[in-house]
Amino acid sequence: MSMKRISLMLLATAAAFSVSSAKAAGDLNVICSADVVICEQLQGDFEAAHDIKVNMVRLSSGESYAKIRAESRNPKTDIWWGGTGDPHLQAASEGLTEEYKSAKIDELHDWAKMQAESSGYRTVGIYAGALGWGYNTDIFKEKGLAEPLCWADLLKPELKGEIQVANPNSSGTAYTALASLVQIMGEDKAFAYLKDLNSNVSQYTKSGSAPVKAAARGETGLGIVFMHDAISQAASGFPVKPIAPCEGTGYEIGSMSIVKGARNMDNAKVWYDWALTPEVQSRMKDAKSFQLPSNKAAAVPPEAPKFEDIKLIDYDFATYGNPDTRKGLLERWDREIGAIAN
Ligand code: F6P
Repeated sequence: MSMKRISLMLLATAAAFSVSSAKAAGDLNVICSADVVICEQLQGDFEAAHDIKVNMVRLSSGESYAKIRAESRNPKTDIWWGGTGDPHLQAASEGLTEEYKSAKIDELHDWAKMQAESSGYRTVGIYAGALGWGYNTDIFKEKGLAEPLCWADLLKPELKGEIQVANPNSSGTAYTALASLVQIMGEDKAFAYLKDLNSNVSQYTKSGSAPVKAAARGETGLGIVFMHDAISQAASGFPVKPIAPCEGTGYEIGSMSIVKGARNMDNAKVWYDWALTPEVQSRMKDAKSFQLPSNKAAAVPPEAPKFEDIKLIDYDFATYGNPDTRKGLLERWDREIGAIAN
């Protein structure tokens, strides 16, 4: 074979290789279950660092689980980033997510690693956040209302119509609230509490953080949310004060999972490893996302609620992320609370 022919062949092979590697760069379909601002920041940062186009939708945690389940025969999502851990654990135990042990796992806090281990590496912790509420200090002052420090305070008749919380079917925040109250009070007492609370609730929103955004705008007095979402409104200049309930409260291990049968599996793993790096997690605060990052080397935002100052329950993720428990509690919520919701 002549030298010219060999170099032509090499050129052709190189061209074919570059076409196929450009193709491998391709797309990544992401469901993002946290605030839209951090979702968009991640999308922009990832695209800037990789030759991969991100198609992203923002959905609440429960909605994301339902979408992934509905599409399980023909997955349209590659990676599910964010949202509370319970529905991620449910998806894991139903075999809807892919087993993947990232090389980054050992860089993570134990609570994030445990989320991975307990799911057989079908999900992993990316951040943690404590449940509480945020109230509008101007509204409370104008109406002469006392600072609401405890779950019991939220039942006071003077708070009628002043509270918003999300629907636990769509929202992971609201499911965390439901599961936390069940763990604090016992199931029957928690449902009795939620029935009483319903008299003060003006709206059950779809997204978990919507109630405190409404409180920030003065549309309601108080939103039951993750404390970091209340802090985010305060950091944006709104008269919102975050509260950690006096009786104790639950928390989330915000999680990330790769969808089983993802069409862009290699790219999903690239995102997964990238999203566990300290650099990416340290930048979450720039989007006013003040959760605790899961990578031990990531900077903890000074605004993040101090877990050591909060009376946290020993949230039982294995039980409340179990499909039967989650389904059972949501069905009971629909029957007993959804049915009487205003
Ligand atoms: O807004 C951020 C956040 O609170 C996350 O920490 C959490 O995982 C997610 O939203 C829950 O959202 P939703 O309640 O809408 O499922």
